[in-house]
Amino acid sequence: MSRIIVAAAKPEATRHWQAIMQAALPEFEVVGWEPGAPATGARYAIVWAPPKEVFEVEKNLEAIFNLGAGVDALLALPNLPDIPLFRLQDAGMSSQMTEYVTYHLASLSRGFATYAEHQRQAHWQQLPPPSYRNWPVGVMGLGLLGRHVAQAVAALGYPVAGWARSPRQLDGVEAFHGAAQFKRFLNRTRVLVNLLPLTEDTRGIINHELLASLMPDSVIINIARGGHVVDEDLLKALNAGRIQLAVLDVFNQEPLPAEHPYWSHPKVRVTPHVAAVTLDDHAAEQISQGIRSLAQGQTPGGLVSRDTGY
Ligand code: NAP
Ligand code: GLV
Repeated sequence: MSRIIVAAAKPEATRHWQAIMQAALPEFEVVGWEPGAPATGARYAIVWAPPKEVFEVEKNLEAIFNLGAGVDALLALPNLPDIPLFRLQDAGMSSQMTEYVTYHLASLSRGFATYAEHQRQAHWQQLPPPSYRNWPVGVMGLGLLGRHVAQAVAALGYPVAGWARSPRQLDGVEAFHGAAQFKRFLNRTRVLVNLLPLTEDTRGIINHELLASLMPDSVIINIARGGHVVDEDLLKALNAGRIQLAVLDVFNQEPLPAEHPYWSHPKVRVTPHVAAVTLDDHAAEQISQGIRSLAQGQTPGGLVSRDTGY
């Protein structure tokens, strides 16, 4: 019977995914990674933030399946074997991302944050009706997650633009691409949503220059990776009043250290990397289908390009 090895950052997560994947792939023996144990001879690895030792020990691997959408941490491992790497494709994450963005967007555009403050003062006051045109949204990254968010927000009536590496056509969304169109995209954006992968090209993209190019009084919603943000530049822009709010789900260091200024900053909302979590049933179905396709000689979706890094 062919083997699959499962390896996550923590032993309890490894056990969790081993049980789920064994139930989904009964024709395989699914083994959990144990530090110091001999090689299992597994053909496939299913991983999330695995210890690098997995790839020193398991030398028979033919493919790796990532239990998440982003592969930046995996690609940064020095000994990642040069074999096909597959990542989750949406797997229930695009609707979670859409909820996350619309929750924060509506809180601003509909005045819900102000109403919460009014309730604390037992103050009854109806605010003016929402004016969606005052909140032009710009989505960086028009992949599986970004394009879903962009179109859902556009369907609510907000003016929406998106920016990608290559030209994209999306109903209801003004599409920009490449370095040459970046500035124009930023200049018309007041609520910037980041859904880019973290690559050599995108690291530090939310920096002084970007922040200065957005509309005045703008909002940052970073739900991609902490490495996209130059924290010093963002804090300066918040403190200068250039940016009115930063909604941050991901950080350069996770967990976010207790002494980090983001925790107590009045213009920052922090969530602990939960904008879109991996869902057991979606992930098990997608990865089991992927492994069965590979075993039959086909190439499943979600193949990561080592050239582009996503
Ligand atoms: P995806 O399908 O690979 O889409 C990536 C998008 O980014 C594509 O539109 C791509 O352009 C664009 N892009 C890449 N490099 C670019 C560059 N240099 N300039 C401009 N555009 C560029 O990825 P996804 O599945 O939507 O996921 C996006 C990211 O979300 C993941 O990589 C992960 O980091 C993050 N994420 C976060 C959470 C969370 O809970 N916070 C959960 C899941 C995922 P093209 O269309 O031209 O290729
Ligand atoms: C989570 O951050 C993911 O990339 O799936």
